Amino acid sequence: MNNNNEPNQVLSVIESRSSGRAYSSEQLTQEELNVILKAGLMAPTGMNRQEVHFTVVKGDNPVLLELDEEKRRLRGQDKQLHNFYYEAPVLILLSAEDGFKWSRVDAGIAVQNMTLAAESLGLGTLIIGCIYDALNGERKDYFSELLQIPKGYSFQIALAVGHKTDNKPPHEYDFEKQVTMLG
Ligand SMILES: Cc1cc2nc3c(=O)[nH]c(=O)nc-3n(C[C@H](O)[C@H](O)[C@H](O)COP(=O)(O)O)c2cc1C
Repeated sequence: MNNNNEPNQVLSVIESRSSGRAYSSEQLTQEELNVILKAGLMAPTGMNRQEVHFTVVKGDNPVLLELDEEKRRLRGQDKQLHNFYYEAPVLILLSAEDGFKWSRVDAGIAVQNMTLAAESLGLGTLIIGCIYDALNGERKDYFSELLQIPKGYSFQIALAVGHKTDNKPPHEYDFEKQVTMLG
């Protein structure tokens, strides 16, 4: 597909990626974390506003336990076998400026950039949205302060990263249903 017939690493990472829902306790190195954050910071944003903020939280930070409890409280769930980030060693929370038209889209683009960067390093990832209501609900101010989310910003999406110990195959898709080709 490319001119010099070299394997295309971007396409192979896109095709082989799948969500990880089991992780070992092995930590990321600072270099790995920096590469992943840089991929998020390099993501395009509407009008180049760069209004996405990245909060890195270690998997054993007690705030995540509280967040897990709040998520379960809002959903009426009992304590589950796994927490919402499947015991990954690192969670990166993406928040973005309130009231900017492209905030959600920009956070989505950034999280996928980071996902692909992490996968290219051989790490596993899980994009996580299930804590959205817990972080933007009645306890928003409390969690925003603990997580040092900037004033005027709201949580959008999170990324768990680690060494995954499961191996779910990539998801199937229906080309005909999802794609319209106009002549
Ligand atoms: C916006 C968004 C939010 C998601 N939130 C969660 C989540 O809270 N918990 C979870 O286990 N997976 C979550 N996922 C992962 C999806 O369930 C997963 O991407 C989908 O099932 C397809 O599987 P794949 O990633 O292995 O291709 C989320 C994915 C996206 C894109």
